[in-house]
Amino acid sequence: MAQQLTHDVLILGAGLAGLRAAVEISRRTEGKVDIGIVSKVQLMRAHSVCAEGGTAAVLRTEEGDSFELHAWDSVKGSDFLADQDVVYRFVRAMPEEIRLLDHWGIPWTRDSKGRIDQRPFGGHSFPRATLAADKTGFFEMQTLYDTLLRYKCFTRYDEFFVTDILVDGGRFAGLVGIHAGSGETVVLRGKALLIATGGGGTLYGFTTYSQTVTGDGMAMAYRAGLPLEDMEFLQFHPTGLVPSGILMTEACRGEGGYLRNNTGERFMGKYAPKLMELAPRDMVSRAETTEILEGRGFRSEAWGDYLQLDLTHLGAERINTRLPLIREVTMKFLGIDPITTPIPIRPVAHYSMGGVETDINGLTRLPNVWAAGEVACVSLHGANRLGSNSTAECLVWGGISGEEIVKALPKLNLPGVPEGKVRAADAHVDALLKREGSENLYILRRELRAVMDKHAGVYRTGEGLAAALATLRDLRARSLRAPVNDKNRTYNSNLFHALELENLLDLAEVTVAGALARQESRGAHARRDFATRDDEKWLKHTLAWWTETGPRFDHKPVTITTWKPVERKY
Ligand code: FUM
Repeated sequence: MAQQLTHDVLILGAGLAGLRAAVEISRRTEGKVDIGIVSKVQLMRAHSVCAEGGTAAVLRTEEGDSFELHAWDSVKGSDFLADQDVVYRFVRAMPEEIRLLDHWGIPWTRDSKGRIDQRPFGGHSFPRATLAADKTGFFEMQTLYDTLLRYKCFTRYDEFFVTDILVDGGRFAGLVGIHAGSGETVVLRGKALLIATGGGGTLYGFTTYSQTVTGDGMAMAYRAGLPLEDMEFLQFHPTGLVPSGILMTEACRGEGGYLRNNTGERFMGKYAPKLMELAPRDMVSRAETTEILEGRGFRSEAWGDYLQLDLTHLGAERINTRLPLIREVTMKFLGIDPITTPIPIRPVAHYSMGGVETDINGLTRLPNVWAAGEVACVSLHGANRLGSNSTAECLVWGGISGEEIVKALPKLNLPGVPEGKVRAADAHVDALLKREGSENLYILRRELRAVMDKHAGVYRTGEGLAAALATLRDLRARSLRAPVNDKNRTYNSNLFHALELENLLDLAEVTVAGALARQESRGAHARRDFATRDDEKWLKHTLAWWTETGPRFDHKPVTITTWKPVERKY
């Protein structure tokens, strides 16, 4: 039988939401709760370190910002699919998160008066993206980890690939995983679980995500019987560096950067005359795609057509102090200095609005499982998230779920381990290691991404989505003939890639089938064949449930407390 290790609380995922939750549990209990933090990478390599431009919060009420304004911007940005009670809770909680990080030592960028600085971001009607240059996520992660180190109550399970979330008798009953270094299967037991594994953006080939972000937490929760909510809404960020996809932060435009087509035109004037480059991401990405499709992109056989992000008018001083990472990355990856040369960009897969369904406290439908951050769908972002609301969400719901777990712990017992389910998980890994056949899982992964790029991108059609669904089902069948060539147990990344492919296939199917079912255009989901929003039929959340034959969908209402849907104009 596999080794078993026990903690009070398990946190699966060591990004911003996971670390924020660990800090909250530790400080509320003065380090008396024993936490296991589990990550498939080394802790400071969680993708959250790649967050760049800022974290939204209302800090300048004396200058006109307000919770109502932040809430309204977020609801309008979401194309009215966000739950408005959730949005209000979020905007009210955020300023304290900024102050806490400040107290814990984060080097927030300061303005000329010495105040915590804020910059404009798309769709926000006030500059409220709080920044640490253009490395905000990195500094937030480091600050949270430094803070956590004050408490001696946690154990790190780095490079630990979790294969299964065990559910037994309607409760979480343990994690089964493989410790990469030893190759051993280990069962981690806990009274409570927080899932904080981030999104699934490597479903796409052109993506801002680290290659490690394969939606494992979402897929495991789905297979364990939890519904995934609103997965058809995938955000495309307007400025992915061509050809790598690396994020060129929205802060480039917040600092005053322009988007130009091949005639030099600032084309956003045609699409969002008031907000221009700082319109919400769904609109800017559609505008860019239209420019390219209508022949006003820069042609490139090798890279695919692109547009330009022009910072050359900002000057060296501004770029060096406010956007140093952007300059470093463009110089290292393309040999381009943005002080003198525009940057090639196009829309890039960036964020999953959907995820594991939770209530407003981050609790899932299981009484001892919470989810927070990008893996979760608390219904904050609806159909389109505003930039800088995501690191913010990780902080707020990391904190909330940490607090809720502390409150729940006295009532939770340590569940018994369902031995049969552990054996089944282990047998699955053995079967993967023994699998034979002529397919290549890396080619399948590439084909999966290609079909998502082609048919589930900025614009979608029923025909394209149906073709994508057929391809995905074929890829799944072929994946059963894709061997894991490395037969060792230790550091077997080949095995982990096979497990990731299974997760990606599940998520791709939910995303595409959900997009095919939703016969309207809303936020980031733009159907050519159903070009308008249809509130009559589709002002509702999608829930996807795992079945043997593919996802089963049902729906739940959107919580509208303040604003009825109106046309979005910017
Ligand atoms: O552009 C950016 O810096 C990304 C921010 C976000 O996704 O919130």
